[in-house]
Amino acid sequence: MPPVRRNILLNPGPATTTDSVKYAQVVPDICPREKEFGQLMEYVAAELTRLVADTDRYAAVLFSGSGTAAVESIISSAVGDDEVVIINNGAYGKRMCDIARTYGIKFREFKSSPYEAVNLSDLEQFIRTSSDSISHLAVVHHETTTGLLNDIEAIGQLCSKYRIIMIVDAMSSFAAVPISMKSMHIGYLAASSNKNLQGMAGISFCIANKELLEDLRQVKPRSYYLNLYDQYDYFSSNGQMRFTPPVQTIYALKQAIEELRREGVAQRYERYCKSWETLIGGLNIFGLKHLVKESDHSKLLTTIVEPDCELYDFNEMHDFFYERGFTIYPGKLGELKTFRIANIGDITSKDIEAFLELLRDYLVSINFLKKGE
Ligand SMILES: Cc1ncc(COP(=O)(O)O)c(C=O)c1O
Repeated sequence: MPPVRRNILLNPGPATTTDSVKYAQVVPDICPREKEFGQLMEYVAAELTRLVADTDRYAAVLFSGSGTAAVESIISSAVGDDEVVIINNGAYGKRMCDIARTYGIKFREFKSSPYEAVNLSDLEQFIRTSSDSISHLAVVHHETTTGLLNDIEAIGQLCSKYRIIMIVDAMSSFAAVPISMKSMHIGYLAASSNKNLQGMAGISFCIANKELLEDLRQVKPRSYYLNLYDQYDYFSSNGQMRFTPPVQTIYALKQAIEELRREGVAQRYERYCKSWETLIGGLNIFGLKHLVKESDHSKLLTTIVEPDCELYDFNEMHDFFYERGFTIYPGKLGELKTFRIANIGDITSKDIEAFLELLRDYLVSINFLKKGE
């Protein structure tokens, strides 16, 4: 099959994919209720689980939908009448608060800086003041708003100490930053097909401890489509999703998982980190500031302070890159003017070098840099 035009997506997912993943979608038509398709989904669910846990004790529950579907499913299905502590240190922590509010779920918001690590003694104090009524704690692993990587291992230890079930939105860390659900005390984890997995958009999934999933039978359902227990139960009994799955996306996901297994999660993260180091090297040369210090950084996405320059315009810069095959992303912080560059997907440090060359050209064109600088 002919190669597909290669676009370098520097937005934080959907990420650049290989042609083999794109072409894996070209398959004979099949009814997803067929046994053959059920086996494909069982394979995909088991392989996703295996990336972070053992398949005897943990299971993946797939939904058709973007990543928010899995987060919403967990929050609306897992938290009963007790309270959930939600760590809000960026747009995706805030989104979990919005979800809880929508469903009338009792939650306590623990606000923290989007650029700095969570203060664990403040968090413990926060939990201790009302630990009797708290059943769950929800945290975003990699806050894609800024690139901040929350220390879920340490937060998991606190959860274990206070017998709280931890929910982790691992949307933009899964399949790159190593995760072990058991040793990190993660009860539920949410992620999707189109970020570090390098698959197509359309599948969102929750990986959870099977005992917790079984216990959900007792929680009064709040959502019909996103009911986590029903989706788990139906899939375990029938090898099917309750509703029509995105058939071709799942074939692409199988291919993406096989490519990930070939590369290895640690090696994929190493490749991403090399791209990040190249990016940071270039930004430093150009005098562009970025947020979040290295020890708290995911090395997957960087929030860059916009150049202080009269001719600078994000939309113009976006179009400049887009015309040249690169997609960049706006910032998501109200108080600071920023833009974002992700270094995930099927790209290498060579692509980042090419991006930096173009960035230099753009910065020269707006008189932020002098020619030859
Ligand atoms: C940490 C995190 N959570 C949730 C989401 C939401 O995913 P989606 O836009 O696929 O619904 C994203 C998307 O970027 C994310 O980065």
